[in-house]
Amino acid sequence: MNVAQNLLLDRDGAVATITVNRPKVLNALNTDTLDELRRAILALKHDDGVRAVILTGAGEKSFVAGADINELAAQTPAGGREHAIRGQHVLDLIENMGKPVIAAINGYALGGGCELAMACTLRIAADTAKLGQPEINLGIVPGYAGTQRLARLVGKGRALELLLTGDQIGAPEAHRLGLVNRVVPAAELMKESRKLADALAAKAPIAVRYIIDAVNKGLEIPFPQAQVFEATLFGLVASTDDMREGTRAFLEKRKAEFRGR
Ligand code: COA
Repeated sequence: MNVAQNLLLDRDGAVATITVNRPKVLNALNTDTLDELRRAILALKHDDGVRAVILTGAGEKSFVAGADINELAAQTPAGGREHAIRGQHVLDLIENMGKPVIAAINGYALGGGCELAMACTLRIAADTAKLGQPEINLGIVPGYAGTQRLARLVGKGRALELLLTGDQIGAPEAHRLGLVNRVVPAAELMKESRKLADALAAKAPIAVRYIIDAVNKGLEIPFPQAQVFEATLFGLVASTDDMREGTRAFLEKRKAEFRGR
C-alpha cells in the first residue's frame, strides 16, 4: 500500500513496515518525507492492531543517506532552526511511540539517517551497512538530536570521535560500539528484522509501552525520581488483564496470550 509519495507502508498482521522510498537520492529525507513519516508514525501509534514497526530504506544501497542536502544548501538561519525542530519532533515521535520500532539498516545510515536509526527502539544492521555522522564535512552540525542520542548510546568519547571526524564506520564496528544491536548478512536483514518484530509483537503491549517509557523518560531525570516512575509503572501494570494472563500462563506452564488490556 502506498500511503505517501516518499514512503511505502506495508502491514502484515501486527507488524507494519515503513520504507523510505527515494532511492534516486539514497532515501535522503526532505521536508515532505519527514512530514509523511510523522503522519505514518502517528497513524501506527494509534492503531491498536499494530504492535511492532520495521523502518527501512528502499533499494539495496541505502537506509537513509541523511537530510536532503539540496534543501540544506538553501536554508536560512531561521529556516534551519525550524527544520531541525521539525526533524527532532518526528524522531521524538518514533522514540516515544510506545511500540517497538526496529531500524532495519540496509545500507548507508548517515547524518539524519543515523539519527533516524538511533531514534528507533532497536537497530539491526546488514553486514554491508555504513553508519556515521558526516555533517562536519558539510560544515554543519547534526540537527535531529544526533549529538545527544549518539552520546547516550555509545558514550561521550566515542560520540565525539564520530561527530568530529565524520568518518563512516562499518556494521561490525557499529556493533562493537553499541550503535547497533545486531549485525546480520544483508540477505537475511528483513527476515531477521521480521523475526524480532514478531517476537516483540507477541509481548504484552502495555508492559512494552511502559518499558520503553521507563527507559526513555528515566534516562532524562534524576535516578531517584526515575525509580519512583518505574515503581509507579510496575504498580500500574498490576491493573492489566495481561499481567494476570502472563503470571497465570507461567503457573499453568503454557504460552501467554497477551491482548493489550
Ligand atoms: N541529500 C541529497 N542527495 C543525496 C544525498 C543527500 N543526503 N545523499 C546522496 N544523494 C544523491 C547524490 O547527490 C546522487 O545524486 P545524483 O545521482 O543526482 O548525482 C545520488 O544520491 C547517489 O549518490 P552518490 O553520491 O552518487 O553515491 P555514492 O555511492 O558515490 O556515495 C554516499 C554514497 C552516501 C557516500 C554519498 O552519497 C554521500 O556522501 N551522501 C551524503 C551523506 C551525508 O553527508 N549525509 C548527511 C547529510 S546532513
